[in-house]
Amino acid sequence: MVISRTSAARQAEPLYARIATDLGEMIEGGVLRTGDRIPSVRRASLQHKVSLATAVQAYLTLENRGLIEARPKSGFFVRYRPHHLLDEPQTSRPIRTVSRDESPTLISRLFDATMMRDVVQFGAGLPNAKLLPVQKLNRIISAAARRAGSGSLELDMPPGCLVLRRTLARRALDWGVKVSPDEIITTSGCMEALVLSLRAVTKPGDPVAVESPTYFGVIQLIAQLGLKALEIPTHPRTGLDLDALERVLRSRRVSACLVVPNFNNPLGSLMPASAKERLVAMLARREIPLIEDDLYGDLHFGRERPHVAKSFDKKGLVMLCGSFSKSVAPGYRVGWLIPGRFFETTRDLKFTSTVATATLPQLALAEYMTNGGYDHHLRALRRALQTQMEKISHAVAESFPAGIKMTRPTGGLVLWVELPARVNSLRLHTKALAEKISIAPGPMFSPRQNFRNFIRLSCGEPWSPKIERAIGVLAYLVKQMR
Ligand SMILES: Cc1ncc(COP(=O)(O)O)c(C=O)c1O
Repeated sequence: MVISRTSAARQAEPLYARIATDLGEMIEGGVLRTGDRIPSVRRASLQHKVSLATAVQAYLTLENRGLIEARPKSGFFVRYRPHHLLDEPQTSRPIRTVSRDESPTLISRLFDATMMRDVVQFGAGLPNAKLLPVQKLNRIISAAARRAGSGSLELDMPPGCLVLRRTLARRALDWGVKVSPDEIITTSGCMEALVLSLRAVTKPGDPVAVESPTYFGVIQLIAQLGLKALEIPTHPRTGLDLDALERVLRSRRVSACLVVPNFNNPLGSLMPASAKERLVAMLARREIPLIEDDLYGDLHFGRERPHVAKSFDKKGLVMLCGSFSKSVAPGYRVGWLIPGRFFETTRDLKFTSTVATATLPQLALAEYMTNGGYDHHLRALRRALQTQMEKISHAVAESFPAGIKMTRPTGGLVLWVELPARVNSLRLHTKALAEKISIAPGPMFSPRQNFRNFIRLSCGEPWSPKIERAIGVLAYLVKQMR
């Protein structure tokens, strides 16, 4: 019998390596997908008729190659690996022409769609309630109400609930920030933290530098405060283009810079630590406040939580904003602001904004973070989002027309897709909604309505045949519109 060179080489491989190669090929070939459970070590040893030690060695090999991961008490699973089927979009190049202003209408249409139960929610940038600790928080909030008695109805005046601020101060060490509870103000979500920050450091007419694209809420907020958004080119993986920002800073006055360094919405970009350091230093030299939105920092897919830019702040010029909206409880409306040297001003503004943050949700979240299994929940949420993102990325890569581009986020919950130039995402949005699918069209993410052939797809809903079908319908619509 003639044995081919490859099979001869294969025969020469130790048994564990052969098992690892076979399983590896199934993962690389997409037979086994991200999040799939692979057989237990015991089962693998029976299947391949090898000793337990050989099966263990095979799995260790796959783990070292980054293909699988062991989860405590659950077994082995295929790990998330950003696939490279599609190219990434390039660094954005904001165009200065202004098109018809339809953003506010678009935003309300998107919000209306979010409330429709039968619509597939690629438009809503939130984790589905199935991924949130609903039962646990319901129990915790009832217990907190019983414990607090009439206290739960009392106002917790700014800077807000002390137990929560203490918990946040401990948690901030994970973000790379050493802060005392007295430096934290609790807010009604991250949005209020952004409002307070902008109001504290700008006046109407002032220019504010932002990423391009950026969250549509930020764009609306800047417009409503009478400020001017300066769109700075942004790379889909590494975030704000600092050379471009430097050029802007040299040529004109900028009153503040509002950035989402960890998993920007909609790009999912993550600024490397060195870039965060350079950004903080660049602004500090000119005494320009940096409003840092860290809403997505906890949703990292890598092992380490990325630090915040504030970890490099030496002058108290970085105003760090965050909330529990994407990780635990969007409806509780609890967030925080660590405003550095602008503490007094922002605390006073908080009073005329919402007087105080709702008492009971703050107490419940403090308890949940301390004793409720917050970290365990975050781990499960991150894994679920990673899996969903991987599956949606795959489905898009396989079904959308050739030539499209897509981001490869390493955290967060959204994908940014560049469609063929002729596809108008606003029209696609209307057509998709008629098919009960919501998407977020690109122009929402730019004050000048750039990104007409881009869409943002949220990966907040668990993967299901319904989601798979919806991607197929979107792909069909895009092909029709090409
Ligand atoms: C970047 C960014 N900042 C702020 C917000 C608002 O957060 P919150 O719901 O906590 O007010 C969002 C919501 O999607 C967002 O994407």
